[in-house]
Amino acid sequence: MPSMAALHKVLCILSLLFFIACVQSTLHHHHHHHLLTTAIDKFNNYHNENGEANTIHHHFPHIPNPADLVSDAFHGGSSSQSSPYLGEEEAPHESDIPQNDQPLYTGNDFNNGNQIENGVVNDQRGKGDSENDVNSGNQIENGDVTDQRVKGDSGLFNSKGGWEIHSQNSAVSAMHLILLPNKKLIMYDATSFRHSEINLTKGVECLKYVKQDQQPAVDCFAHAVEYDVETSKLRPLKVALDPWCSSGALAIDGTLVSVGGFKEGEPAVRYLGTCANCDWREHANIMKDNRWYASQVTLGNGDMLVVGGRKAYSYEFVPKEGQVSQKPFYFPFLYETSDQYEENNLYPFVHLSTDGNLFIFSNNRSILLNPYNNKIIRTYPVLAGGSRNYPASGMSALLPIKLTPDADAKTPIPAEVIICGGNLPYAFRLAEAKTNFLPALQDCGRIEITKPNPIWEKEQMPSRRVMGDMLILPTGDLLLINGAQRGTAAWNDAKEPNLTPALYSPDKPNGKRFTELKPSQIPRMYHSSSAVVPDGKVLVAGSNTNPTYLYKNVEFPTELRVEKFSPPYLGKSLEQHRPVIMEEESVIEFTYGDDFVTQFNLAGEKDLNKQDIMVTIYPPPFTTHGYSMNQRLLILGINGVKIVSDGVFQVDSVAPPSGVLAPPGYYLLFVVHRGVPSKAMWVRIK
Ligand SMILES: *[C@@H]1O[C@H](CO)[C@@H](O)[C@H](O)[C@H]1NC(C)=O
Ligand SMILES: *[C@@H]1O[C@H](CO)[C@@H](O)[C@H](O)[C@H]1NC(C)=O
Repeated sequence: MPSMAALHKVLCILSLLFFIACVQSTLHHHHHHHLLTTAIDKFNNYHNENGEANTIHHHFPHIPNPADLVSDAFHGGSSSQSSPYLGEEEAPHESDIPQNDQPLYTGNDFNNGNQIENGVVNDQRGKGDSENDVNSGNQIENGDVTDQRVKGDSGLFNSKGGWEIHSQNSAVSAMHLILLPNKKLIMYDATSFRHSEINLTKGVECLKYVKQDQQPAVDCFAHAVEYDVETSKLRPLKVALDPWCSSGALAIDGTLVSVGGFKEGEPAVRYLGTCANCDWREHANIMKDNRWYASQVTLGNGDMLVVGGRKAYSYEFVPKEGQVSQKPFYFPFLYETSDQYEENNLYPFVHLSTDGNLFIFSNNRSILLNPYNNKIIRTYPVLAGGSRNYPASGMSALLPIKLTPDADAKTPIPAEVIICGGNLPYAFRLAEAKTNFLPALQDCGRIEITKPNPIWEKEQMPSRRVMGDMLILPTGDLLLINGAQRGTAAWNDAKEPNLTPALYSPDKPNGKRFTELKPSQIPRMYHSSSAVVPDGKVLVAGSNTNPTYLYKNVEFPTELRVEKFSPPYLGKSLEQHRPVIMEEESVIEFTYGDDFVTQFNLAGEKDLNKQDIMVTIYPPPFTTHGYSMNQRLLILGINGVKIVSDGVFQVDSVAPPSGVLAPPGYYLLFVVHRGVPSKAMWVRIK
């Protein structure tokens, strides 16, 4: 049967002109994916009885299948490729970044750590290991490994930012992470491992499953938690349809919509509301194609689209809750950019452009797609240098969108995308063989996607990075954080954690945009994540390169500590310049194009110019596998700033003119005064 299917696929490709016929046959062959998946399930013997390390790779074994055979022909085969890069030594880190030695921080205002609700968390880490055990116990202790105060580091809180441990134990590895508009972060990994460090709430029914030996079993662990951004308190959540390597996004009302995952999770859709006792509502068999490693994007009208996934060369709309997806749209671009063994097309980077179209980047190619008529509007030049998507796992972000007060829905607004890091196309194969962990890429490409014939502008990061996160800070600078300097994504496929965050200032000239910040001491490798939180800090969590929870005798233990990184703008000496939003006096809900006011306190300031103030809005992105879905920051047009009373000011901003610029829903709003952001206030655009 595989050869029949292969023949059929070859014919299908050869007859791309007969597009409709091809779509139909691809859909017909959907059941082959299920057969393949079953074979792979058998192979992936990932769960053994005593929870020891085992041999599952977070990747299909190379079972020949129709798609691969076609892919071979299509790409002309690449398995015997040799390269001058193989065995290349890593370049010495000669940073030519200008160092700013002026400390911004004169003291230490960091609230070090929080208590975890005792009695809920099962802390089984490093039991009986008295040496090297920084994890034991639920209490935060001073003198933690990242607290350099005890090491006499006088420059702790200088202009390079600062680190603090926010929690010793998130209990669930933060493979997926998103902030909800109720000040809670949602963190979850997979149910497949049948393990975590927290149990389901008493009274909640445990998960039933069938073990390897076909015996029925129950799993009472929680595989998702709600994490309080301020207190670090945990609340276990129950997720049953495996969300491993799924996608997510917030709906207009702030509900988390989670799509895809593994096995029964692949075509599933789950919802998590924002109420105090909300738990997941899960729906099986909603999506037409399986969505494992797919990307999710919200369109200008609030519709959500899910793009790609393993062997899913299609996209489809997420239906309303209770309904089933109508149909997938065949999307050959994802097929064309899939490398035979490595793939490098998973978790494609998808950004909603300012014209309402979708910029989609896969491997090293990108296009602009009209998602409503399935038309490719523009094909961008190839981004040379290597592969950028999973498992080569580079980073991508839409640069801040700058609006003027007179912006209207018809004015074209430029949009730029940046893509950094990753690895060579075959790096994953070598990493899987554990023979060679190639140096990650150090370059970035930046492109103005709204131009008709744009080119990639290249620049260099201060260090190599794969599996990093790229977050947009409230000021419009970007933060590159987490990841490794060698290898790729997937189980134990990377070496040399990249501990040093880099700040990227998009408006500076090329060559002067990057600054290295204070390193962390905690490796954040595969399955790590991060999020900008309302206090302007960056919460960093996760890292688990092991297909279960392992704390000993592994190079990179499962990491459950949660850190907060304070970018340089949170320096103590800048405190006096930090605006404090007065929520009661400010507009919290507005519609497109509205003028709205925000009041803030800036004690000590007599007068303010319009140029001193920036108002930015940021919807919480969904971060997993080094990609923050739906991340965008808008710098709003400002009509004026005026003084209200002593130390109290009012800024009159203009809401984005359309949903294409800012899809409806919840946003964090920051008032930024000469580069120093306030804490955020939640606003809602309708
Ligand atoms: C927690 O769940 C595990 C796994 O199902 C179970 O073995 C254990 O007994 C539970 N612990 C408590 C305190 O209920
Ligand atoms: C783009 O990626 C493909 C697939 O890995 C590769 O064959 C091709 O050489 C790459 N192109 C460039 C210009 O790097």
